[in-house]
Amino acid sequence: MVKSAAVFVCGQCGYESIKWLGKCPSCQTWSSFSEEPRNFNNAHTHNGDYKVVRLTDVSMEESARFSSGNAELDRVLGGGIVPGSLILLGGDPGVGKSTLLLQVAQKSADNGYKILYLTGEESLRQIKLRAERLKIKADSLFLLNEQRLEILENCIRQTKPHLIIIDSIQTVYTDSVSSIPGSVAQLRECTVKLAEIAKKMERSFFLIGHVTKDGALAGPKVLEHMVDVVIYFEGEKNLPLRVLRSVKNRYGSTDEIGFLEMGGEGLREVQDPSYIFLDARQRRPVSGLAVCPIYEGSRPFLIEAQALVTSSGPGYARRMASGIDQNRLALIIAVLEKRLSLNLGSQDIYVKVSGGFFLKDPAADLGIAAAIISSYQNFSLPVDTVFAGEVSLSGMIGKVSFWENRLKEAERMGYKKAVIPEHSRFNFKEINLELITIENISDLLKVMEV
Ligand code: TYD
Ligand code: MG
Repeated sequence: MVKSAAVFVCGQCGYESIKWLGKCPSCQTWSSFSEEPRNFNNAHTHNGDYKVVRLTDVSMEESARFSSGNAELDRVLGGGIVPGSLILLGGDPGVGKSTLLLQVAQKSADNGYKILYLTGEESLRQIKLRAERLKIKADSLFLLNEQRLEILENCIRQTKPHLIIIDSIQTVYTDSVSSIPGSVAQLRECTVKLAEIAKKMERSFFLIGHVTKDGALAGPKVLEHMVDVVIYFEGEKNLPLRVLRSVKNRYGSTDEIGFLEMGGEGLREVQDPSYIFLDARQRRPVSGLAVCPIYEGSRPFLIEAQALVTSSGPGYARRMASGIDQNRLALIIAVLEKRLSLNLGSQDIYVKVSGGFFLKDPAADLGIAAAIISSYQNFSLPVDTVFAGEVSLSGMIGKVSFWENRLKEAERMGYKKAVIPEHSRFNFKEINLELITIENISDLLKVMEV
């Protein structure tokens, strides 16, 4: 018997409710619910055949990963593409998802793999125009301008590509669900079917998913638990830096990041991030700049924390954070006010991280604090010094991980001194940096005065 009922589904997170809700109780988004028909007896019915396998008989022979042709993407994937995997690439429209995967398609085709690029969004001419701009010529790269999943499935069975790129998952639909393309029901059903094809035929898929807030298209969040790898592609459109962040990876470590740079001829890998975050001019003494050796993903690099402190006009003092969390900035300012008795209440404070990168590493706290003090007191920090340490509420400077790698990176980039927490001073034998150890935020003032 086919039981059918309607449910209301949040377009952002997939939360289901039997009645319409104005605000989603799960992700707190307003006006995100739409009605979806629900078929309890849907396309997953099968004839009852099954096969049980002894655990001891399960083959451990893993098919070898293959390279995407992009070293940064390979790094985030955990060493390349695993055959039979489903990889979701999410990101804002215009960030460069289609560009990245067209370049991956070309490189993989050059390496002898057969690639199928399904475009449901752009016409074949538009793809061709992008390919011309990227100077792509690949004989084993095939395009399919289609939105129906059943046709894609036929095409995969006939052409047997190694890698299938779906641009985008929101435009694909299956006839077995009656709701419109991009709805949560369609997204789920199509992804389940693609996962079946991926596993049965050992083909790998990249699914492009737009992250939108207007509720017109369901966000890729609802798909995260159905795919093997979830990568977010971030970046500010008017800056060249793009960051690949893995938030789920069944075959590798999460929280890995990759750096790319968008240029006139597509995306280039950035293998040495320190060079793009440090402006050559910053070696001039300017107040409000501090260099921090940070560690994100699995590598250290240097970034510049920039602060501008100016006396505020009437009304509330402004606090603006770009590249770090606003609450983290508030906490650092509060510690400086309380522990160093700085009168920052009457000051507007702007803090920015170079390059448009969003910084999570707590070790940058000390550099941010140093940059704020430097701008407030209007003197420049020594240009050969880096700062690293986590600032606690008590004003103590806490130890952070991977000290050796951070300091080696600072040394490689030509820095001579490092201000670091007191209790981390014993471990370094091979570091040729002058280490200035501090215990407390008030020690920072003394060090800076020298
Ligand atoms: P696109 O890959 O279409 O983004 P998405 O698929 O995520 O929506 O790229 C969009 C932007 O990238 C567009 O604004 C133009 C820019 N771009 C470059 O700067 N250089 C290039 O070589 C290409 C192909 C695009
Ligand atoms: Mg696109």
